[in-house]
Amino acid sequence: MDKKITFGSHFGTIAAVGGSVIGLGNIWRFPYLVGSSGGSAFLIVYILCSLLIAVPIMMSELLLGRHTRSNPFGAFRKLSEYKIWSMVGLLGIITVFCIFAFYSVVAGWAISFFKTAIFEGFTGHSSQEISSNFKQYINTGWQPSLAALIFIVLTAGVVIGGIKKGIERINKILMPVLLVIIVGLFIYSFSLDGFSQAMNFLLQPDFSKIGINTIFAAFGQAFFSMSLGMGAMIAYGAYVRPETSIPRLTLTIALADLTIALLAGFAIFPGVFTYGIEPTSGPTLIFETLPLVFSMMPAGNFIGIIFFFLVFIAAITSSVSMLEPIVQFVMQELNATRAKAVVFISTLIGIAAVLCAYSQVENSSLIVFGENIFDFLNDATAKFSMPIGAFLIVIFTGWVVQKDIVYKQITNDGRHSNSLYFYYRMLLRYFIPAVLGVFILTTLFN
Ligand code: TRP
Repeated sequence: MDKKITFGSHFGTIAAVGGSVIGLGNIWRFPYLVGSSGGSAFLIVYILCSLLIAVPIMMSELLLGRHTRSNPFGAFRKLSEYKIWSMVGLLGIITVFCIFAFYSVVAGWAISFFKTAIFEGFTGHSSQEISSNFKQYINTGWQPSLAALIFIVLTAGVVIGGIKKGIERINKILMPVLLVIIVGLFIYSFSLDGFSQAMNFLLQPDFSKIGINTIFAAFGQAFFSMSLGMGAMIAYGAYVRPETSIPRLTLTIALADLTIALLAGFAIFPGVFTYGIEPTSGPTLIFETLPLVFSMMPAGNFIGIIFFFLVFIAAITSSVSMLEPIVQFVMQELNATRAKAVVFISTLIGIAAVLCAYSQVENSSLIVFGENIFDFLNDATAKFSMPIGAFLIVIFTGWVVQKDIVYKQITNDGRHSNSLYFYYRMLLRYFIPAVLGVFILTTLFN
């Protein structure tokens, strides 16, 4: 691969990395977890996790990528003589693949709902109708499969265009649109009666609700939302320009990710409370509960169209960054052209996505460890692959990679202040491995 390929501008870098982290994680996963894991109690743990754990991990991934200018597998291979470390990169690539499979199914739902919002609208349907429509849709198997395949083809179309003309360009256009839509929806939700109830739900901490499950859910969500533990940020780090400050970039991105998740929560829960619906429905929250809200809300059809368009944008700016590490790997390690790599990988992802979609059909036999494939991939990646991947990345950067490589990347050759470097290194070498170690052991023994 040409070593000189980088993002073209500072804004382009922020848009691309922001596009990766801001996604269904913020608009689909965060709200349903807040809803089902105790509201603000979850939020507090989540914020702590993001700042103390996710931020240093993201810095580590970006620096590994920028230093080696390699895909996740190649980055480890170049930095250690022990080949076993490159398995961490490979594990990451497999994890991204699995996430992409179920992610594209959810993104496909958004495409289908967008279509429904435009052609049929939500108003005039009873709550039973709306929820049974969603179940019928899932049970066809082929409809969600087709929608997921359309989504994968669109993603492939972007990634085939390369870094500057494909990935960076689409993010520079779509991320501002996403911001405008979400702020707009947030302002609209002010006008709903349920707004103050939503405020309490999200912001009034109830410490008695913080239990082991809340903590686990918050960890998994922090990794998922910041695209961590699978080398996706190593892949994007390879395109970060030499003059970019990695700590500054990471903090900007972390704050943006948190802000958008909160805005999504504030855009969604007021409607849920206004119409007296329980916020605890889980993964189908925005697809089963929200259409009901739209069916009752003034201008609900229009809001529905905008909302599902938002979900689609959030999804595609993330999915391009799931395809890229795998494509980068195939290009660099197997010497394929970009176009061939994209077509090959997208075909495999397409097959996996169809399996996920069909596993959700009622009485489907596509079951792994007692869960359908979709739920299995969603849970197993959050519980195991991401934390374990992140743990190994942290150990590698903190204890294996030469100290001055890390120092140079974090401070840009000593040009930026190094007080941050000190805290970063302490967290990286001691705090994070300890916390993640406990986390992983507890999960394994549960
Ligand atoms: N962060 C993305 C979101 O919030 C999801 C995600 C998880 C992701 N892992 C990734 C995106 C890897 C890109 C690459 O929706």
